[in-house]
Amino acid sequence: MRLQVVKAEAFGARAASQAIETLQRNPHAVLGLPTGHTPIPLYRTLLAKAAAGAVDLSQMRVAMLDDYLGAQHGNEVSFYHWLQEHFLRAAGIGDDRTLAIPTRAETIAADCEAYERRLREWGGCELLFLGLGRNGHIGFNEPGSGKDTRTRAVRLSESSRAANADYWTENAAIPEQGVTMGIGTILEARQIVLLVSGADKREILRRVLEGEPSAEAPASWLQQAPQALALADEAAAGRPAE
Ligand code: PGA
Repeated sequence: MRLQVVKAEAFGARAASQAIETLQRNPHAVLGLPTGHTPIPLYRTLLAKAAAGAVDLSQMRVAMLDDYLGAQHGNEVSFYHWLQEHFLRAAGIGDDRTLAIPTRAETIAADCEAYERRLREWGGCELLFLGLGRNGHIGFNEPGSGKDTRTRAVRLSESSRAANADYWTENAAIPEQGVTMGIGTILEARQIVLLVSGADKREILRRVLEGEPSAEAPASWLQQAPQALALADEAAAGRPAE
């Protein structure tokens, strides 16, 4: 994995340029998309570029990265709902072009297999964006996630539940389990961009880039992915932009 450091104000534009290049090469490309605070500048920039005619989002397809087990798509506490609100609806990307992470508890194992099958039928992720959790997670691959894991239901750490709580209105009930694209599934993406911003990610980013790859900090598996780029702002990288 390479590291590129950019100024905070250039973070969204740099991430968006990666998506735009991919879509210019292949307008039907499947982009893997995360939720969270970190990708918001990416989504804002992409929507602005689309409105200005600089990129065509009318054929791109989206594979979601994770969600809560049991989440209802219409409910507020759902990553599907979050992605609708922050990007998909404004981009005009309907359900026919969105591969949602399954959330139905009763059929989750079979539905995760169907998700993987559909992703393969779509040709896999051409470009996958990831956020980085303070505990080293990517998607909801919490510490302990091995590099061969596939899409599955997982128990969430208290730190992840707390960190994600402010995506929703106060007192929202945060589920105890999530569903996530696996590390093995993530590593099959043809390009991966790990988005990292803010000083509170500096310590974990250093560990992810420099520590021995291990399940303790699942993002460290990306060290073994030559197609991966860590895109960090100066605060997260702890050094000036190139
Ligand atoms: P954040 O979340 O972008 O809200 O910091 C990242 C993550 O937990 O994956």
